[in-house]
Amino acid sequence: MEKNPEKQTVKSNIDRRDFLQKSLLLAGGTVGASWLLSACGKSSTSAAASGPSVNFTIDLSSTQYKSLKTKGSYVYVNTTIVACDASGNYVALYSVCPHAGCDIIFDGSSQFPCPCHGSIFDESGNVVQGPASSGVRKYTCTLNGNILTVAG
Ligand code: FES
Repeated sequence: MEKNPEKQTVKSNIDRRDFLQKSLLLAGGTVGASWLLSACGKSSTSAAASGPSVNFTIDLSSTQYKSLKTKGSYVYVNTTIVACDASGNYVALYSVCPHAGCDIIFDGSSQFPCPCHGSIFDESGNVVQGPASSGVRKYTCTLNGNILTVAG
């Protein structure tokens, strides 16, 4: 036990200050942890497929687009990539890679790789391989004679 009451008061003030500092650190850590958790929650919801709405037609009998009748081929119409896959089905996706904005290409079979950093998207626009963390918008293709309608 201390004999000098002044010294005891000083020690008590130091203990109080130490207690307040530790409390603030703990409170800050709690706030920081909850912020991180909410930020992680937001990033998972922001991983929705990117891309604008489109609605256009392609005349497959035209010189410009007749190559699209060949399986494995693809064309770009503005920011949409339209492909004829290995099964002869038409697939249209938003062509701008969400990672850094390069145009994705078609592998001639069923996948859409990005030539810039290696992301790969499937025919639904979902990420098969990163670094892209979100997919690209898929559009509906409807063939009526030689007229392919792309919308969505
Ligand atoms: S821009 Fe497509 S993977 Fe980086």
